[in-house]
Amino acid sequence: MPATVRAVLGEKRRHVENDEDAAYKKENQLPYKVAVLKTKKNNNLFIHSFFPEHMDLDRCLVEKRSCKSYLEKPVPIELIGEILKAATCAPSAANLQNWQFIIVRDQQKRNEIAAVCQHQDWMRGAPVHMIVCNDQKKVTDMFSRKGKLYASQACAIAGQNMMLKATDLGLYSCWVGSFDEYALAKILKIPDNVTPEMIITIGYSDKIEQGIDRIPVDRVTYFEEYGKNTVEKSFFPLSKYGQNIGRVLEKATGTQNQQESAAAEQPQKPLEKIKKWFKGR
Ligand SMILES: Cc1cc2nc3c(=O)[nH]c(=O)nc-3n(C[C@H](O)[C@H](O)[C@H](O)COP(=O)(O)O)c2cc1C
Repeated sequence: MPATVRAVLGEKRRHVENDEDAAYKKENQLPYKVAVLKTKKNNNLFIHSFFPEHMDLDRCLVEKRSCKSYLEKPVPIELIGEILKAATCAPSAANLQNWQFIIVRDQQKRNEIAAVCQHQDWMRGAPVHMIVCNDQKKVTDMFSRKGKLYASQACAIAGQNMMLKATDLGLYSCWVGSFDEYALAKILKIPDNVTPEMIITIGYSDKIEQGIDRIPVDRVTYFEEYGKNTVEKSFFPLSKYGQNIGRVLEKATGTQNQQESAAAEQPQKPLEKIKKWFKGR
């Protein structure tokens, strides 16, 4: 493996990208560029990776649909590394970072895992299973009453980071929470003090779910107190790809202009959206 790639995977040393690195990245369709030697901290040299087109969060939020149909194409280990790096950026109570990860690519093991996930057979075809484990003791030791919840929440945030990063890298994913915890622990030799929290399947796909089906924001949001749902005119999602904007505008202005709502459903640049909204106001 060329030095650039090793660098991205965490090797802390001086490196300048060379032809071998460039060829490897091209061959493996690795999208990242590497910036070398940006900071000096605790006498360690840190090497940062970054992407030529940095993450479009709105795109990732909307495109991150649960995927249950994967191509056989393997996922480069470097991308798995990127996904794990994103996971460990998650916040955690007292920064205890109670997550651990098991990466499963072995077909036999993936079959066994699918079986203990209530026979979700589509999982067999996902080339990577990433099991997020919860080493919760250190959290429950510190936060006796809420420790269990905090530990679980930190793992969940790590999981969401992983799925967003996977989307950013052109991969697809699905969160799987329905499994026999004890059977899964047995397959993966997880010790008693560690709990498998969720499995995230990862892979490439050509069967992409379209659209995002969510309860509109205005139906799940209250202002100042529970149950008070008067929407202020200034409150609407500015997301480029948000689908709820039409509904929120309708409620905010009290109009039933269907044309405006339909137009608002289309992806638009935020500035155009804002201009459109302010037009005639
Ligand atoms: C806690 C949790 C458990 C889930 N468990 C499963 C599961 O066992 N199997 C599955 O196919 N999807 C599972 N999902 C995915 C949801 O079904 C999916 O996110 C939801 O239907 C919305 O679809 P979308 O992700 O495509 O927007 C789970 C999601 C969460 C957050």
